[in-house]
Amino acid sequence: MPDICYLNGEFLPIEDAYVHIEDRGFQFGDSLYEVVRMYDGVPFRASQHLDRLFRGLEFIQLEIPYQKEDLLEIFDEAAKRSGHSTAFIYLQVTRGSAGPRSHVFVPGYKPTVVITVRPVEPIPEPVREAGLKAITHPDWRWANNHVKATTLLPNILIRTKVSRLGCYDAVLYREDGYITEGTVSNFFAILNGVLRTHPLTGRILAGITRMSVLEIAKAQGIPFEERAIQTDEVYHASEAFFADTYGEVIPIVDIDGHAIGTGKAGPLAMQIWRAFREMVKKETAR
Ligand SMILES: Cc1ncc(COP(=O)(O)O)c(C=O)c1O
Repeated sequence: MPDICYLNGEFLPIEDAYVHIEDRGFQFGDSLYEVVRMYDGVPFRASQHLDRLFRGLEFIQLEIPYQKEDLLEIFDEAAKRSGHSTAFIYLQVTRGSAGPRSHVFVPGYKPTVVITVRPVEPIPEPVREAGLKAITHPDWRWANNHVKATTLLPNILIRTKVSRLGCYDAVLYREDGYITEGTVSNFFAILNGVLRTHPLTGRILAGITRMSVLEIAKAQGIPFEERAIQTDEVYHASEAFFADTYGEVIPIVDIDGHAIGTGKAGPLAMQIWRAFREMVKKETAR
């Protein structure tokens, strides 16, 4: 069965789906996206992903002719039609096109809305249990990372380097030495027994997984603080992990060649991951 796609109101095979070359998504990256993970055919926390999308759309002053409920229904329909059960729902909204290229946008664009459903290979358990590696890297991105924009060139360049080094992601830091997040994930470390992550500012994306991790920490009485970590603190962390829709909770055992904790997936990271899986099971039960 060919993979299907939703494009501006209709479902069609991905091979037959085209967007105009003057679409501002293509020309300028004038567009936002979301990635929702499906577990056993059920999207996890799709509503929260869409709340983030609508906050982003407001920030970039783009109105779309869909309410959240419309998109949730399309997600369900796309999920059914795809035939996939462990998959990503990818949603992209661009400002569309209004003739010749111009940086300035004016009201009245007809946005392009694309949704695809593609299967995903989860991280194998032994890999997670062994833990993954990371590098630190300057955060080359802009100032509004709370917006999930498709202008991902810095992320692409850094993640390619990361991947060539056999690491999961980079621990990004700003000029003032504060760690922000990863290129595809939020970053957490345990320092002096406290779970720390960057607070919600323009420097990071308000990750749905990040939010789930903090809910778990609260429910389990794990002390946590939303306070940025300095690069010179991070090698002293007893544990570190990334959190994102794809990898869920990904223990990090090595940063720049420095062993983190015992050099094996940390117990707290694994405890939080297991609790996350329970949360998924509960929320995606039919
Ligand atoms: C830069 C960045 N930070 C954090 C995340 C994690 O967000 P979520 O948990 O919603 O997938 C992502 C996910 O794509 C991301 O690209």
